[in-house]
Amino acid sequence: MASKFQAPRGTFDILPEQARARRRLERIAAEVFARAGYEPIATPVFEDTDLFERGVGKSTDIVRKEMFTFEDKGGRSLTLRPEGTASVCRAYLEHGMQKLAQPVKLHYLGPFFRHERPQAGRYRQFHQLGAECIGSDSPLADAEVIMLLADLLGELGVPGVELRLASLGSFEARRAYLEDLKAHLHAHEGELSKDVRERIDLNPLRAFDSDDEGTRGVMASAPMIVERLEGEDAEHFAEVRALLDASGIAYVIDPTLVRGLDYYTRTIFSFVCDRLGAQSEIGGGGRYDGLIEQLGGAPTPAVGFAAGIERILLALDEEVAGEGRDAFVAVAVADPGQRQRAMALVAELRHAGVSVELDLAGRSFKSQLKHANRIGTRRVLILEADGSAQLRDMDSGEQRAVDPGNLVGEMTGGEA
Ligand code: HAM
Repeated sequence: MASKFQAPRGTFDILPEQARARRRLERIAAEVFARAGYEPIATPVFEDTDLFERGVGKSTDIVRKEMFTFEDKGGRSLTLRPEGTASVCRAYLEHGMQKLAQPVKLHYLGPFFRHERPQAGRYRQFHQLGAECIGSDSPLADAEVIMLLADLLGELGVPGVELRLASLGSFEARRAYLEDLKAHLHAHEGELSKDVRERIDLNPLRAFDSDDEGTRGVMASAPMIVERLEGEDAEHFAEVRALLDASGIAYVIDPTLVRGLDYYTRTIFSFVCDRLGAQSEIGGGGRYDGLIEQLGGAPTPAVGFAAGIERILLALDEEVAGEGRDAFVAVAVADPGQRQRAMALVAELRHAGVSVELDLAGRSFKSQLKHANRIGTRRVLILEADGSAQLRDMDSGEQRAVDPGNLVGEMTGGEA
């Protein structure tokens, strides 16, 4: 009988078959990161609320509406992390990583939490994998993190992916641009959706994201920052593009690209997938040269990305099967009196690296064989009451006597 309890809204269980698909993804991601010299880091699932308010930005939807915030017993405000970059920068500062050789290259993977309206590809607890390259202002770093995500999606076999690229310029350039954008929006207030109108001064860039027809009309004639980049901002963007061209990474420049976090400067990018419907962004990121300073450190340039694991898996769908279950052996006993011998043998086999299962359900001998077949076991070791042993090949049904004194050798020495 099903219980009245269910996983909370917007969350889900990861059942064994799905866990196997994730395991493949995690293994390939770890390889891609390791090959580029990115080291693993893990940070707590909750942080001081203030970290995200400062890091992600008070005007963002994430901070305004989507954080799971609670008070601990000491009255401190804590928040389940909605993203990883602020936490990684906090750890960078807390552990004095600015004293290491720069840049410090890190990657992470784990659960994140946003109180969003759940739908396909959008959950309240989801998983991200991400990378952060902290301490380099070189366009090479921008190109490298983009390349990492492109390689990862390529090696996983994610179909229908497009890379969109833009630049927001430096904070100063962006500030000047935002004033012009606000002026443009104010001049056309009557044509904007209510939501956009109310947020002109708080978050004008979001207007580029709107589905509203009137707003889209206004945005078609809005000033675009990529077209106004100057000096070093323009050079940086040109160099990032040249590096991607040289590495054979295809992209489209998208002047309307908007990201939902406040910390970005200069390069921003987004990998979208045409298999995903409304939640089409599989991953994205950009440069955030002001964040470490915002968190109390010295000015430190940085760039990174995060990708949604559920979205990658949705895009892969059935195209790529997960990691198979290990091929394993079953030990079956024809006589319950053989149980202790069987248990000792199972321990010995497992220590020798053989995957082996023993019937735990008190099945008859016949049912043990049937069960072994059902779970995909190809070989069954049968312990007879007289101390002898047989090895049965489940595919052919053939059975042969094996040396009971050398069962581990028998099982590790080659295929039956
Ligand atoms: P983000 O764009 O907010 O960026 O999230 C990155 C990815 O996480 C998205 O592209 C999407 O695939 C996935 N994602 C976000 N929200 C959800 C959700 N509710 N359900 C399922 N998947 C979701 C960041 O988080 C930045 N920290 C990325 C970054 C790293 N920028 C620089 N470094």
